[in-house]
Amino acid sequence: MLPYLLLLSTAGATAGIHPAHLRCEYRLNPLGLGETKPRLSWQLTAVNPAARGLAQSARQILVAASPEALARDQGDLWDSGRVASDDTGPVVYQGRPLASRASCWWKVRVWDQAGEASAWSEPAQWSIGLLAPSDWTARWIGAPWQGAGQTGARAPYLRRSFTLDQKPASARLYVTALGLYEACLNGARIGQDSFTPGWTDTNKRVQYQVYDVGAQLVVGENVLGAILGDGWYCGHVAQKGREVYGDRPKLLAQLELTLADGRRVVIATDESWQVSSGPILENDLLMGESYDARQELPGWLSGGRPAGDWQPARLFPTPAIELSPMLAGTVQAHETLVAPAAPRKLPGWGSHRFIYDFGQNLVGNVTLRVTAPAGTTIKLRYAEMLGADGELYVDNLRTARATDFYTCKGDPAGESWTPRFTFHGFRYAEISGLPRELAPTPATLVAHVLHTELPPSGDFSCSEPLLNQLQHNIQWGQRGNYLEVPTDCPQRDERLGWTGDAQAFIRTGAWNRDVAAFFTKWQRDIADAQAPNGSVPAVVPAVDLAPGDGGPGWADAAIICPWTIYQCYGDRALLEQHFASLRGYVDYLATQSLEGIRLHPQLGKWGGFGDWLALDGSGLTDGGTPKDLIATAFYAHDARLLGAIARVLDRPAEAAKYEAVAERVTQAFQRRFVTSDGLVTGNTQTSYVLALHFDLVPPALRPKLADELVRDIRKRGNKLSTGFIGTPYLLHELAREGHLDVAYDLLMQKDWPSWLYAVTQGATTIWERWDGWTKEKGFQDKGMNSFNHYAYGAVGDWLYRVVAGIELDPQSPGYKHFRLQPQPGGPLTSARGTHLSPHGEIVSSWQRGPGSFTWEVTVPPNTTATARLPVPAGATVSEGAQPLAQSPGVSQVHTDASGVSCELASGQYTFTATWVN
Ligand code: BGC
Repeated sequence: MLPYLLLLSTAGATAGIHPAHLRCEYRLNPLGLGETKPRLSWQLTAVNPAARGLAQSARQILVAASPEALARDQGDLWDSGRVASDDTGPVVYQGRPLASRASCWWKVRVWDQAGEASAWSEPAQWSIGLLAPSDWTARWIGAPWQGAGQTGARAPYLRRSFTLDQKPASARLYVTALGLYEACLNGARIGQDSFTPGWTDTNKRVQYQVYDVGAQLVVGENVLGAILGDGWYCGHVAQKGREVYGDRPKLLAQLELTLADGRRVVIATDESWQVSSGPILENDLLMGESYDARQELPGWLSGGRPAGDWQPARLFPTPAIELSPMLAGTVQAHETLVAPAAPRKLPGWGSHRFIYDFGQNLVGNVTLRVTAPAGTTIKLRYAEMLGADGELYVDNLRTARATDFYTCKGDPAGESWTPRFTFHGFRYAEISGLPRELAPTPATLVAHVLHTELPPSGDFSCSEPLLNQLQHNIQWGQRGNYLEVPTDCPQRDERLGWTGDAQAFIRTGAWNRDVAAFFTKWQRDIADAQAPNGSVPAVVPAVDLAPGDGGPGWADAAIICPWTIYQCYGDRALLEQHFASLRGYVDYLATQSLEGIRLHPQLGKWGGFGDWLALDGSGLTDGGTPKDLIATAFYAHDARLLGAIARVLDRPAEAAKYEAVAERVTQAFQRRFVTSDGLVTGNTQTSYVLALHFDLVPPALRPKLADELVRDIRKRGNKLSTGFIGTPYLLHELAREGHLDVAYDLLMQKDWPSWLYAVTQGATTIWERWDGWTKEKGFQDKGMNSFNHYAYGAVGDWLYRVVAGIELDPQSPGYKHFRLQPQPGGPLTSARGTHLSPHGEIVSSWQRGPGSFTWEVTVPPNTTATARLPVPAGATVSEGAQPLAQSPGVSQVHTDASGVSCELASGQYTFTATWVN
């Protein structure tokens, strides 16, 4: 069906490709950009999916100040003209200068490899935000009853009514809060975003959002309103207590209307706004929300005199922080889960408590639907696991109360409620307080899955159901923990942007979802959190005023994350923007090392987190993988990456400098930690993995190190012992050194510790610990036992890159050219990986049998791939109905001991190989 539709929409065009999926600054139709020369990109779709060798030879971009001009093909802001280029972006806007509030509509057309033109793409849009502080005339307002020590007091409802004698030509709301806000206009919520304005270090900056609200305005009286929540700003953050950033929530909003005659009318927050308390008695991200529907404020969003105790809003001085545009999407509800069965009634005399099982450990909130007398208070509690007694297991939430309360107003037609300013990590929810005669059904309580907008970009599946469940768990761990910032966990009193966890998982994250915008935003948070001496803290956004050095494997996220984003999305801008910050970090490391060994300056050795949660004594103790070894390994890696970054940015002097640093540190590492016969200090799996993965030993020594690693794994009965630091690279290094069989043995291991152990125990997300729960010991230490922690899910990267075999070419970032090289093993008879790269969808899907290998691949238009079939030298290989070498799109066929390789032009291919077994 799809090709047919495409053919229709490209009627008249003769090119074999069509531009689609238009993005601006990685985002779909973003409003309120701070970048006045935004980067534009698109993907090419094959008009005929069976065609091969499709490429773009030229492109033309039109940008117009109105959709009408664009429809007339008038690029009144920019007409790039026909530019000979195979580049599908990011292309930097080069048109007329854009000022605050500018609205831009754009489209693109391309010419294919034969010089045939496509039709124009569908139009897309962006707008510029308020660039100068003076663009804001709004004042910060809040409630008089809140203040130091009073947070958690009743949430302010703020409103302002205004009259319009005409419908404006355009209406845009610029809005933010210190704390959280939900904005509303004329009785309806504006947008679908949760937890706006998002999480940044509000000692330095706060983001604002922009909404087109013209459709919600009416001629006559209008009411603009907002509800404020405590959020990260003044509610609980981790175990830091309340008021980490400020003492009460405040709102800043500016509704700008452009009338038909060009006049601008601004409705901004100021002393003319009114404030009242309402039904939200308490709200807190960790603790939960309490809502008394009897105290709702009927009419507060419509004209006339609403219910409530309205008084003038209080004005607050403008804080000396930056008002910043969004760099990534917002949090929204992406899915609603209905429990597959009626909730289970808990036993016990007089008990009227029920537990819902949503079948999935998720992050989000609920909607409660109930008909009950006024004053009935319903209590909702949440947990990831059940105890042996069948009750919610909440010990691992630590001080996070994770409890919501709803008091009914007694509406005979029923009432429903969704908490606004809290989220929980849960699979189970307990409901209590319902009238005795009322038995809840699945419809009484449904769960909403909340996370930052992250378009899905990949999946992995194979013939082993347990691995498919593992992939599912990885995906859900990512969804739950990519909420505003990459967090460690979503349920207990922590939920912080732990840098170590983020760097361990980022590469996997980039397979499953489009994380370019998300990490672009987080890199700004890292820069904000960086101290003047260059150090980067353990959690970002910082939650302490003087957060210090996050330490090895954690702070190094500052370099590893932007490099990974560059590799996966091919855009230098992030590197360019943050180069000074990255350099500052590596220069700081020089001050923290002695003759190349990274040491803690005061202690003479590194404290820090070590190979966190490894099973060999690493971590907070001094056993296991030595901390100065981890520290030095990451220092060498950082310096090498910075050298590579400097090369990408055409900074040869700096490149040479940091390459030399990397070399010096590598030498120091060898002198201090590696013996000439290939033993690495600590003798742990992670010691070997780091030395191998960061290329810290001479090539000749690699096999010896790998042998030691294998020896340890075999000695443990094919089991790993790695923590957060070693786990992401473990299987990669085994495969790279020719121990694919050992890698598959570890991957398929079902006994503890292993990836599949949790899967066999019914896990639906990745656990923080290998032994979060075991048959022998039950629950691990309640002080640290999350069941939704993505770090160990970093093995997902191996599933895509090695099992499915989609591998980027470091020389050609963003998958412009890539490799397809599956390495089947273990019991797997088939595997399929798909990845929506910046150029379109890559597919690698194989099946194998005795003496046969069938492989379907997709190479997106405008890209090429080097493919290697893992078949023996004597295999007969065909593609479609033809011998390999004669197949269109296939070139440079080459056979050697590792298989048959060839170059592929874009297209879909089916390879079949047979050999005598
Ligand atoms: C977090 C981690 C984090 C660690 C630091 C824990 O409490 O949950 O995932 O990286 O502390 O070692």
